[in-house]
Amino acid sequence: MRLLVTGAAGFIGSTYVRLVKDEHEVVVLDKLTYAGRRENLPDGVELVVGAIEDRELVLQLTEGVDAIVNFAAESHVDRSIADQNAFARTHVIGTSVLLDAVRQRGVGRYLQVSTDEVYGSIEEGSFTETSPLDPSSPYSATKAGGDLLVSAYAHTHGVEAVICRGSNNYGPRQYPEKLIPLCVLNALHGDTLPVYGDGRQVRNWLYVEDFCRGINVVLERGRPGEAYNVGGPDECENIEVVQRIIELTGGDESLIEYVEDRPGHDRRYSLASDKIRAELGWEAQVGFDDGVARTVDWYRDNEPWWEPIRSGEYREYYERQYGRSLL
Ligand code: NAD
Ligand code: TYD
Repeated sequence: MRLLVTGAAGFIGSTYVRLVKDEHEVVVLDKLTYAGRRENLPDGVELVVGAIEDRELVLQLTEGVDAIVNFAAESHVDRSIADQNAFARTHVIGTSVLLDAVRQRGVGRYLQVSTDEVYGSIEEGSFTETSPLDPSSPYSATKAGGDLLVSAYAHTHGVEAVICRGSNNYGPRQYPEKLIPLCVLNALHGDTLPVYGDGRQVRNWLYVEDFCRGINVVLERGRPGEAYNVGGPDECENIEVVQRIIELTGGDESLIEYVEDRPGHDRRYSLASDKIRAELGWEAQVGFDDGVARTVDWYRDNEPWWEPIRSGEYREYYERQYGRSLL
């Protein structure tokens, strides 16, 4: 197949491209925001720099394409709280432009990469694909807007569109604004690890390669018009995650710093993944202890990847967000 993969200069998309590049012909469309980097992509993959909301460019790039996999997003909740406009543009307008191209060009398959956050927070039990969407941050609200457009478009126009909702991903090449890489890099620098509120919020951690394998089976065999949850095998409280990182990096608990809570902070995310398991035979292969150890090793061994980030835009972002400088 010839695939147009959008947003693949970021964390998850670049992992996905590594997984499928030998099997399919891949072209990447990425705007190269602060989170997108050419170096994330493996050699030999064509990158077109541009935005998914650019209608002319998208029509040009979808000629002769068999499938589109849309990873393009603003992906950080804290940044959406500071300013949600780019989130609305990319998640809603961008998705709408891609869907029009699917119809106009007769693209055979469309996969929307989405998130458990569209369901909102759940104190007990797990969300299934029939749970109502009830997003609570500007990030998740705009992602839900994109998902609803995809479902409506499949229903109305009969295009073969599917949605894949992943839980919190972690692994190599994640921009360090997110909890795990932020804490790994701070711990490696002997810097404090900021924990929001009481640190008892729960996330369902999914190793990035497991998510990408899930996306692949849904693209190949998912039923048109359907959504599939892809949840990680382990749930942990944030404080447990931070403690594990401290152990793996040889620091001590005095590095933990409780800071002001995130406004509107979702308490717990949890996904039931029975549908993708039963229909498509997907299983997570990497448990949290193994995955987090691999992730710490990757950041320890790849200073040339993170050094330019820590000395660039991220430094300013960190000062704005945490009111102090990075060490
Ligand atoms: P990321 O921030 O690392 O990468 C996003 C990429 O999209 C970047 O390369 C960026 O340059 C590009 N991009 C942004 N706006 C664009 C636009 N308008 N046009 C073209 N490219 C644009 O994000 P990620 O963590 O890799 O997330 C990828 C997808 O997976 C997103 O749709 C996100 O909602 C979803 N998701 C993420 C997680 C997670 O834990 N990170 C979990 C579930 C789902
Ligand atoms: P994050 O990695 O931003 O993912 P999401 O908000 O999409 O779940 O955050 C994961 C959890 O960690 C979330 O409950 C917020 C919390 N968190 C902190 O406690 N401190 C931090 O510095 C960050 C970035 C997140």
